[in-house]
Amino acid sequence: MQPLQSKLPWVGESIFSKMSRMALEEQALNLSQGFPEFQPPSELIEAIHQASLMGKNQYTPMPGTPELREAIALKELQIHQHTVNPQTEITVTPGATAGLYTAIQALIHPGDEAIIIEPAYDSYRPAIELAGGVCLPVQYNLTDFSFPWDDLTAAINEKTRLIIINTPHNPLGVIFSAADFDRLYQLIENTSIRVISDEVYEHIVFDGQTHSSILSHPGLKSRAVKVSSFGKTFHSTGWKMGYLMAPADITQEIRKVFQFLAFSVHSTTQFGLAQYMNAHAEWEPSLSDFYQKKRDLFIDALGNNTAFKVMPCQGSYFAVLNYGNLSNLSDQEFAEIVTRQFKLASIPINAFITEQPVTKLLRFCFAKNDDTLLKSVEILHRISTQYHD
Ligand SMILES: Cc1ncc(COP(=O)(O)O)c(C=O)c1O
Repeated sequence: MQPLQSKLPWVGESIFSKMSRMALEEQALNLSQGFPEFQPPSELIEAIHQASLMGKNQYTPMPGTPELREAIALKELQIHQHTVNPQTEITVTPGATAGLYTAIQALIHPGDEAIIIEPAYDSYRPAIELAGGVCLPVQYNLTDFSFPWDDLTAAINEKTRLIIINTPHNPLGVIFSAADFDRLYQLIENTSIRVISDEVYEHIVFDGQTHSSILSHPGLKSRAVKVSSFGKTFHSTGWKMGYLMAPADITQEIRKVFQFLAFSVHSTTQFGLAQYMNAHAEWEPSLSDFYQKKRDLFIDALGNNTAFKVMPCQGSYFAVLNYGNLSNLSDQEFAEIVTRQFKLASIPINAFITEQPVTKLLRFCFAKNDDTLLKSVEILHRISTQYHD
């Protein structure tokens, strides 16, 4: 028998699994994988439990329960002033990753090109390739984290069908402004390019700025899919709950794929989320403050007198540190040494980049208890004074 030919020959163990495993082996503090160290709201947990006791345990309608889609549409209106039709424009998915996969399968045909902006969340490229598409990465400027407008412009051609953007950005913490969306629109308005906007950190934006969504742009809205995750919003990444918003014609195609991918999503969690969201309008608007305090605690405790350079973070729950003053090792090597010798796990930025340039950047997740953050900063101080290649 012929050996099975891999559809994704370049894919190995994800860096997130690797660093979390290493953190466990080394009993290191784990600021690598992006998950909160705190519980979801207890009333939400209780609402899900009650939904199960009340018998809400069977298949829900394919695109999600009407209650949850209506709750999502209401939030979208209250927080972002977007009108989204819950019947025809919202699809609940088992996490944003499955939502991204579904949307990419619906939008990409064999031979189509899709542009991603790296560093990029690791599911974009495999999903494009599994749809038979060609993934073309262009790269943020890794010195000042500016958006690569010239490279994006140069990468667009008649085969381009899709651009995927991410705001607030994992791992760089940069955000797209309304002017950026204008600029993107000007680039593609005379093409049939669609845009997936990964906005899973939409409620985590700092320093008085507000989240600018692709759905706010009148020109882009008709060609956009917005991706969201309840995991990020309700400290519940393990529940794998998310949703897609797109105009009815795109949603129709998304749902055709979704019907055969999962058909529907965990029932009781949908009922619980709808109930909690309707009763707690204050939750999402409180997140930016909550995480800004975490960011500031981490960065202020680190201070300006270490060998690390703190890169600016406008949103998401990740801080990026440049260790170029300390070591000539690649970020992958340096991250491993820091985990094994100093017991602090992070994620090397080159893990998010296809071409693997040698960066000197590590990502730290600050969605952690204050005590964990302060202990991590103590370790960073130690590395700063004690480490030599
Ligand atoms: C940019 C980005 N998109 C999507 C996801 C996936 O979200 P989910 O856990 O809901 O699949 C993540 C999770 O880390 C992310 O950082």
